[in-house]
Amino acid sequence: MIAVGVGDSVHATPTTRGAQDVTTPVPPPPLLSMRGISKNFGAVEALVGVDLDVHAHEVVALVGDNGAGKSTLAKMVAGAITPDTGLIEIDGEPTVIPTPGAAHALGVATVFQDLALCDNLDVTSNLFLGREARVGPLRDDGYMEATARRVLDSLTSRIPSVRSQLSTLSAGQRQTVAIARTLIGDPRLVVLDEPTAALSVAATAEVLTHIERLREMGLGVILISHNMMDVLAVADRIVVLRHGRNNGVFDAATTSHEQILAAITGATSRRQSRMHALR
Ligand SMILES: Nc1ncnc2c1ncn2[C@@H]1O[C@H](COP(=O)(O)OP(=O)(O)OP(=O)(O)O)[C@@H](O)[C@H]1O
Ligand SMILES: [Mg+2]
Repeated sequence: MIAVGVGDSVHATPTTRGAQDVTTPVPPPPLLSMRGISKNFGAVEALVGVDLDVHAHEVVALVGDNGAGKSTLAKMVAGAITPDTGLIEIDGEPTVIPTPGAAHALGVATVFQDLALCDNLDVTSNLFLGREARVGPLRDDGYMEATARRVLDSLTSRIPSVRSQLSTLSAGQRQTVAIARTLIGDPRLVVLDEPTAALSVAATAEVLTHIERLREMGLGVILISHNMMDVLAVADRIVVLRHGRNNGVFDAATTSHEQILAAITGATSRRQSRMHALR
């Protein structure tokens, strides 16, 4: 479901009804639209003609069995690999994302499964890794700590101190730091690859709350997960990949665990699962 918040632009197409001018709001284009995306790795067809839309204020879960192509699609959005064929649009504009730097410039931030954090550094240093704020030649620690605190608070994080060394944090808290790190770049779209894998029930609940906060902030979120409970709890739409192809798009509010599993395992064909599809 797409919630258009106050201040969001709504394109309006003027129409006429009798003598009166009436404006019919046309929804804005998706934040991200991918069409007909294909990628081969040698003889392996990792993705074949895949479509994916993500809107602002929306959490889209990307699910599928091992090797279904989820991470490959995420890496394309992150600029880590490029499609062989297909179209990517951001805000309705055809776009290429040839490098991670290009993705960053487009407002895309990604948390990969390995998190890429440094155990020997504190929370603030991890958030600003590789992009430290400076005043002249000196690190601006005051600014960075205040920003770190603000970003963690915006996620309703329970990390007690931004000076804690990462090695002292739990797996859930590390995931929080990795998500908070994406917000330093002021992104519009956040991609999370298996953020709750290997987390306790309590830590998972906390990460899901962070994801809801990202949506409330107006961001688009792609959530890759194997956990159907998580997906149904937090996603607006669920996009199923199977053997590198779309196998259904579901409204999380009206879809059961079993329906999603059937699409993942191939118990329902693409045609059947599209009966439940939103678009
Ligand atoms: N760099 C690569 N070189 C060769 N094959 C690759 C490469 N990256 C992915 N693949 C293959 O592409 C297919 C899709 O892989 P991908 O990692 O996208 O799947 P996934 O859905 O993320 O799976 P998982 O749930 O196991 O993380 C798999 O068959 C995988 O082996
Ligand atoms: Mg993967």
